Amino acid sequence: MKLEGKVALVTGSSQGIGQAIAIRFAQAGAKVVINYRSHPEGAEATLSKVQSAGGECHLAEGYCDNDRGYAVGADLGMVEDVQRLIQAGIDHYGQLDILVNNAGIEKHAPFEAVTEADYEAVLNVNIKGVFFATQAMVRHLKATQRTGRIINISSVHEDLPFPNFTAYCVSKGGLKMLTRNLAVELGPLGITINNVAPGAIETPINTKLLNDPDTGVTKI
Ligand SMILES: NC(=O)c1ccc[n+]([C@@H]2O[C@H](COP(=O)([O-])OP(=O)(O)OC[C@H]3O[C@@H](n4cnc5c(N)ncnc54)[C@H](O)[C@@H]3O)[C@@H](O)[C@H]2O)c1
Repeated sequence: MKLEGKVALVTGSSQGIGQAIAIRFAQAGAKVVINYRSHPEGAEATLSKVQSAGGECHLAEGYCDNDRGYAVGADLGMVEDVQRLIQAGIDHYGQLDILVNNAGIEKHAPFEAVTEADYEAVLNVNIKGVFFATQAMVRHLKATQRTGRIINISSVHEDLPFPNFTAYCVSKGGLKMLTRNLAVELGPLGITINNVAPGAIETPINTKLLNDPDTGVTKI
């Protein structure tokens, strides 16, 4: 994979799958906009690994900056933060070519116990944030008359039932339909959009669940 000259923005890249994607993109030569919500130290760890892929890290006022990576704090559950994040990447590097909608959360509760706050938290990050990040990216690509790549980190639970995680399944099912719809709408513009739907990978999102012998969840 050769990504020299490309700029990729990876949401939720201060840990887990998003961090691994950011590092891999840097290894392939891309400049990477790293996003974190509340853990700048996680973004620093990503930056330092991006640095070992070729960049130098400069840390200033809560964010890191180097020639391969740039870290921006933004809450993907808030549309104004989402738009500010995309604009920060464009302002810093002059362009974005790849958007990875990776940030995601899940809340474990039996259906009858799900609160409105938890429902909104999951849907806001996993689908509303993706919707408006993608919209801001598409506006940028259209305004600059360039093609681009959008990659959504969905889940096997876009299709596969997962009892006690109904809001999560609703969000990932919605993400699948968003992706299918936009693939048709944006394809003629040279903008591709794809879902990657992983099975269980041990990261901070599910360490507790995967190590609880009573859940019956299988590690793969
Ligand atoms: N780990 C798995 O087994 C698995 C399986 C299928 C899909 N996924 C999906 O992969 C993606 C990454 O998950 P992970 O396993 O790395 O989990 P993780 O908890 O390690 O990482 C999630 C990332 O999202 C970020 N995030 C959460 N809420 C945010 C917000 N409001 N604003 C900005 N960032 C926010 C977190 O800071 C973190 O960096 C998620 O979309 C998840 O649904 C994970």
